[in-house]
Amino acid sequence: LPLVIGLDLGGTQIRTAVLRGEKLLSRVGLLTGESPSPDRLIPRMYDSIHQALREANVTLDEIAGIGIGAPGPLNSRTGVIFSPPNLPGWRDVPLRSIFFEKFNIPIYVENDANAAALGEFMFGAGRGSNEVVYITISTGIGGGVIADGHIIEGISGTAAELGHMTIDWRGPRCNCGNIGCWESISSGTAIARRAHELIALGRGEKLFNFALAHQEPVTDADTPADVKRAQKNALHINARMVSLAAQAGIPEAREIIAGAAEGIGVGLINVVHIFNPELIVLGGGVVQMGDALLEPARRILKERAMKVPAKSAKIVLAKLGSDVGLVGAGALSYYNH
Ligand code: BGC
Ligand code: NA
Ligand code: ZN
Repeated sequence: LPLVIGLDLGGTQIRTAVLRGEKLLSRVGLLTGESPSPDRLIPRMYDSIHQALREANVTLDEIAGIGIGAPGPLNSRTGVIFSPPNLPGWRDVPLRSIFFEKFNIPIYVENDANAAALGEFMFGAGRGSNEVVYITISTGIGGGVIADGHIIEGISGTAAELGHMTIDWRGPRCNCGNIGCWESISSGTAIARRAHELIALGRGEKLFNFALAHQEPVTDADTPADVKRAQKNALHINARMVSLAAQAGIPEAREIIAGAAEGIGVGLINVVHIFNPELIVLGGGVVQMGDALLEPARRILKERAMKVPAKSAKIVLAKLGSDVGLVGAGALSYYNH
């Protein structure tokens, strides 16, 4: 396999690697910073590519293509990023042509979760299966669907925005503007938001005290929303803190995690009914909570979904772990040839 570059553009980090297949020759992580506008981020993306090349001791002429995974909605065919709820300030950015002008080698732009699905399909847990659904649960919820061995793209290249399927049509407002999206119920952002809501309602005293006793500084792992709330409320509560509180037996935290888990189960019912996948691969920081989240989700799926599609869907964690986005972005250069 030729050398490629993979770049994973996230809400908090730009991660870039030089790869051969699933092997990383270098790895660079740059923070996106407070205002992720295109005119600030694109130069940082260039920097991260040059840095990754330098660290791998490779020149641009040795690279077959640059694959970029980015939050959607975006058009994977034209490489135009529309207006992602989790990339504020971006609107109709022709990322593919911008990068082509700069680097003059093949550029592929794909939704981050679609790219991750491809990564697991080519190099991870999905090897050997042609029906794979990948779901990432982190700041947002993203999905990628491999059907009959191909990424489902849709007419505008935005297919598989699984995080924005409606789970509760009277539910919370999503960052995308709609109501009750999966992401607004079961993402890390949603878990943290729920904690702040309970506390604001005066129903979260134990959780508040737990969080106060276990305060940690804001880190790279925090979403921009976590950082903002930590500043505003002078209290740092993210999804991880809620999970720790749940493990410590704090009832409100357990209630929040149970609610998110129920949402995951309901989303999985829709996924198995629509796609009848052989494999569902779960990635992203929130699934690291493990059984507290996955056990109830699996149970709901088993209890409520149609027997046959539910039974045939094996649910596993991403084999490529936290590199799944990078490997997937790199894989775009192989897939498109
Ligand atoms: C976006 C998806 C993306 C996901 C994870 C969602 O808000 O709509 O395109 O895959 O976040 O980054
Ligand atoms: Na997607
Ligand atoms: Zn939404």
